[in-house]
Amino acid sequence: MAQKVYIETVGCQMNVLDSELVIGALRKHGYDLTDSPADADVFLFNTCSVREHAEEKTFSALGRVRLLKRDKPGAVVGVLGCMAQKDQELIRKRAPYVDMIVGTGQLAAVPELVAKVRATREPQLAVSLGRSDAGRNEVEASFVSYDPTRDPSMRPTPFQAFVRIQIGCDKFCTYCVVPSTRGPEQSRPPEHIWHEVRQLVDQGCKEVTLIGQTVNSYVHESGDRKTRLSDLIAGMHDIAGLERIKFVTNYPKDMTDDLLDAVRELPKVVKYLHVPVQSGCDEVLKRMKRNYTAGYYMDMLARCRELAPGVSVSSDFIVGFCGETEESFQKSMELVRAAKFKNSFIFKYSERGGTKAAEKYPDDVPEDVKKRRNNDLLAVQNENSRADHRAQVGTTVEVLVEGPSRREQSALSGGRKPPVPEPASAIMQLTGHSMTDHIVVFDGTERLIGHTVRVAIKDASPFTLYGDVLTDEVVGADVSREPQASAVAPRPNKFSLPLV
Ligand code: 5AD
Ligand code: SF4
Repeated sequence: MAQKVYIETVGCQMNVLDSELVIGALRKHGYDLTDSPADADVFLFNTCSVREHAEEKTFSALGRVRLLKRDKPGAVVGVLGCMAQKDQELIRKRAPYVDMIVGTGQLAAVPELVAKVRATREPQLAVSLGRSDAGRNEVEASFVSYDPTRDPSMRPTPFQAFVRIQIGCDKFCTYCVVPSTRGPEQSRPPEHIWHEVRQLVDQGCKEVTLIGQTVNSYVHESGDRKTRLSDLIAGMHDIAGLERIKFVTNYPKDMTDDLLDAVRELPKVVKYLHVPVQSGCDEVLKRMKRNYTAGYYMDMLARCRELAPGVSVSSDFIVGFCGETEESFQKSMELVRAAKFKNSFIFKYSERGGTKAAEKYPDDVPEDVKKRRNNDLLAVQNENSRADHRAQVGTTVEVLVEGPSRREQSALSGGRKPPVPEPASAIMQLTGHSMTDHIVVFDGTERLIGHTVRVAIKDASPFTLYGDVLTDEVVGADVSREPQASAVAPRPNKFSLPLV
């Protein structure tokens, strides 16, 4: 019988993609995926180090697996990703029963390492060089971008995929571990990316999300040819069958006009920019080493909206960073009020060992103050999100239908709906994203899944638009007769936990 692998993923899209690729590789070695730990022979934890909370979650998951492992002496437990790269010693100390520690730049070795553990029962370690261990070229070479041929069955939906265009980060924001856990910034050659996108489209993929820590810093030089993100996008735009191109996450200083021109001019490019500001206070931004002021950010935002009219923008904030006074926090409140983001991700500062901030500045904002600031900022953002969503009522938006809505999925899993497939004509609540990345919910039939439809927006909550699909109208295709091969209900992304 095939051996079974169970994987838990925390963290960003990079980790979700890495897990997909690791599972794809293990499948080629005869493993099956299971979402039940009790059935598993191999337990993998793909980890995140951005905040302490994510690390603690992994340690408690490892604690639970230890109990399972007692009854299964042949089982293999592996820690992958950022914590593996950063905290090998700590993992060995706190969870000595872990068999395999594999850093972000070594994931291609996972199948071989699992086999080694099984053959020898010796612990296996594969991590890349630290950034101060060697010269840049050597460190770069030790972080390998892991982008093998993909296994379409592993994606959250068959028609959406992440594509890594860059690994690592060179910005060294003082609070952030990413430059050490993911190594130096390296852009993949454009030909490799275009080839991967073509392959994905051949497999039925309609939307690609290009990912990088600072995706708009992407630049690849070869001889005297220089490829920027805008050129990369233009080079894949006309692939027949590809409908949408997204890219995340952007760095404010690298938001160049050529990229904004591409967002405006190229119809397949999603009109959405995630550009984290982190704080509205210049002194805080300076201590964070973000290399811009709040004024610069607001000018950049105005330029985004001028050059790409109708674009929606979202942001990240950190509250309670070292030395953040009430006055400096109020500047973040002012910025969030003025910026009118579609939404913001707000985090309480979490001190990370090995960062410049941990070395130089005391973590001096008490936890209850961080919590209060988080809530205050969120309340203002939610007001703006409500207004942003309300403004869409009365418009018609194009939605790539991803599958049953959450309500529909919980009705299915809660047994209030029959588990047998409904006829393709049964009405269910569906969901998808608009071209401005708004979540849209509407009633329709299963046959619409995987297609782009027009939805008239009738109502809005701060986070969701509700509407009516314009009768059986599918943009760019005819599905009025039979469901097509790709019109299958997507699997919920069982191999990943909610993002932290
Ligand atoms: N503490 C809290 N939030 C952090 N982020 C990055 N590092 C930290 C930290 N040490 C946030 C930033 C970043 C997002 C991915 O996580 O807002 O944009
Ligand atoms: Fe971290 Fe800053 Fe790089 Fe983003 S840009 S990954 S916050 S160091």
